[in-house]
Amino acid sequence: MPEYNLFNPGPKQYESLDELFDAMKRMTDDPLANAGTNIVISRGNPNAKLLIVGEAPGPEENIKGKPFVGKAGQMLDKILQAANFDPEVDVFITNSVFRLPPGDDGKAFRKPADAEIDFYRPFVLEIIRLANPKIMLLTGNVACYSILRKTGITTLRGKWTESHGCWIMPIYHPSYLLRNPSREPGSPKAQMWDDIREVRRKYDELLKLE
Ligand code: URA
Repeated sequence: MPEYNLFNPGPKQYESLDELFDAMKRMTDDPLANAGTNIVISRGNPNAKLLIVGEAPGPEENIKGKPFVGKAGQMLDKILQAANFDPEVDVFITNSVFRLPPGDDGKAFRKPADAEIDFYRPFVLEIIRLANPKIMLLTGNVACYSILRKTGITTLRGKWTESHGCWIMPIYHPSYLLRNPSREPGSPKAQMWDDIREVRRKYDELLKLE
């Protein structure tokens, strides 16, 4: 597998996000092309300084054609709003995989396989290159695997890395917080609150430097 990064972002570079998204919508050779699910790419403001990378669309996202519009998306919006970010204005949101991976055993969906994440990675890197954010948040292990080639979210979360032309912080996936609703000190929710406050601090610092 070639090691894709900002300087080697994969097979093709595009002139604009619109051109890239047009090509992605016409994609027929991706590993989930025969799954019968839709291409779901982004929501929010493409000029925002904050980019969020999720996992893969779920059933609601597949229907509405936008990432993070189901329960996990409502949780994500609440987290952003708690730190005074407007999800439609201050943030651009995308995923690591652009079609819902259909589930087996009667389940509506499953986690994307590594080979699927690997296939879509060059497209995620093109989105990052063209959107050129100042800060990128990776929600959960799938996004960490896609961009950092690392997993272990409980260790990675809350720590900054400078890479891909921006500051990157892994954070918990909002679905994980829905499954762990406690707000006790040291709980995932309490840690998320620490992380998003740190993101706000960094965002304000970087904006002051402009
Ligand atoms: N979870 C994600 O990671 N992305 C979505 O778009 C929806 C749920």
